[in-house]
Amino acid sequence: PPPAPPRHFLDLCDLSEAELRHMLELGRAFKAGRGVLATRPLEGRALALIFEKPSTRTRVSFEVAMRRLGGEVVVLSAKEMQLGRGETVADTARVLSRYVDAIMLRTDSAAKLAELASAATVPVINGLTDKSHPCQLMADIMTFEEHRGPIRGRTVAWCGDSNNVARSWIHAAARFGFTLRIAAPEALRPPPELLAWASAEGAVIELTESPEEAVAGADAVVTDTWVSMNDAPGTNRHNLLRPFQVNEALMAKAAPGAIFMHCLPAHRGEEVTDGVLDGPQSVVFDEAENRLHAQAGVLAWCLGVGEAARAAR
Ligand code: CP
Ligand code: NVA
Repeated sequence: PPPAPPRHFLDLCDLSEAELRHMLELGRAFKAGRGVLATRPLEGRALALIFEKPSTRTRVSFEVAMRRLGGEVVVLSAKEMQLGRGETVADTARVLSRYVDAIMLRTDSAAKLAELASAATVPVINGLTDKSHPCQLMADIMTFEEHRGPIRGRTVAWCGDSNNVARSWIHAAARFGFTLRIAAPEALRPPPELLAWASAEGAVIELTESPEEAVAGADAVVTDTWVSMNDAPGTNRHNLLRPFQVNEALMAKAAPGAIFMHCLPAHRGEEVTDGVLDGPQSVVFDEAENRLHAQAGVLAWCLGVGEAARAAR
């Protein structure tokens, strides 16, 4: 029989809730040091991490997760690869597939990620594109549920730019069944085709230009930088987004016990004040830590850890 297609982790919208829940369960077991993930199940396997743009959390959390699972890591900067001087993405995928067992890519271009995945014969993981950041959302769902319990039926308020992280929150709302309120200036709303997808999936996404309206009674308030890595810097984004800053007055309008989330890096004094980021409702460093645990779950799922044992039972 032909070999089974690799299990890519490209976007939450490509995966079922059951698959995503399974990865989170693996991630929680890794965090707790129990089960097969505590037995170095990826001994002898290798992961390539390709970065076309900067990273602190994604780079370190993938490297540490893979090593703790017993595997090896090769970290590559695209500009030091032949990829940076014209070798095609597809040829790069074919070659790397002969050396490593999984490839993570961080790139501006979602099309490049798709090309890599279609030519690779090993799993490909999205380490952020200009369109999405699904690894972040796995850590975010884990973090929300640790602090506030099951996310199904709850309300999350996003304030600011409808960027890559916001788009993955939309995918997550559809898959995990929570209400997502997005407060954004009209010019920086999510693309209509993504909203149409979400509504066809039965997701509840509410758009507003009022951050107060978005956060009223919300269980979590989330934001991100006003200028993402692929955005041209300019004052207009700042002017448009200033009214969406998450500050103490805005947080006070959320539900009692609401948490504040941010994928980091934060631009203190812009999208969020020090008072909120360092305040009692902030869970941003738990979120950063959970990148490690959630991605251990993603790696284990992509590489089929524990499945031979399950199938034999
Ligand atoms: N949140 C996140 O992806 O951080 P890095 O850019 O540091 O990887
Ligand atoms: N939206 C940000 C996220 C960084 C982790 C960016 O793309 O720069």
